[in-house]
Amino acid sequence: MISNTMEAALNKQIELEAYASFLYLSMASWCDKEGLNGCAAFMHRQSDEERQHMLKIFHYISEVDGYALTPAIAQPPHQFESVQKLFEQVYEHEKGVTRAINHLVELSNKEDDYTTLNFLQWYITEQREEEALMRSILDKIKLIGSGPMSLYYIDQEISSINAAQLKADNAEGA
Ligand code: FEO
Repeated sequence: MISNTMEAALNKQIELEAYASFLYLSMASWCDKEGLNGCAAFMHRQSDEERQHMLKIFHYISEVDGYALTPAIAQPPHQFESVQKLFEQVYEHEKGVTRAINHLVELSNKEDDYTTLNFLQWYITEQREEEALMRSILDKIKLIGSGPMSLYYIDQEISSINAAQLKADNAEGA
């Protein structure tokens, strides 16, 4: 049985993951509008992934006899200055998610809730990977620079990163 405090904190995390899913969906739409099909596909996959992160917590709360709540989701932004700014925003968001996960770990320790502590290990690894991925994308964008063909090359690059991610996800699920 989960404590009320832990249950509320996990429900808050559901909200954060759901917001991330909507934020990335909004970014996918902007990328599509800009003709950045590789970036759009990447953002759609990220959005689906965030929904899975949300559902994982949702099911966990039910499993430990808590009550998972469907969150209200704030409207994400629809306008982005540039593809670089967009990925900078993603990176900042992911750093925020990492802080939230760390807070949950701290709370589960404080509450001697080792079941939740164990459950959260998956998220710690996931956040390390997400942050590293976004950092590497930002490095690539900076490396390509802002020449006349830069958007084309950035989109190509993100497209191949997306293909590699899909392959890794499929291998994980196999
Ligand atoms: Fe589920 Fe990318 O945080």
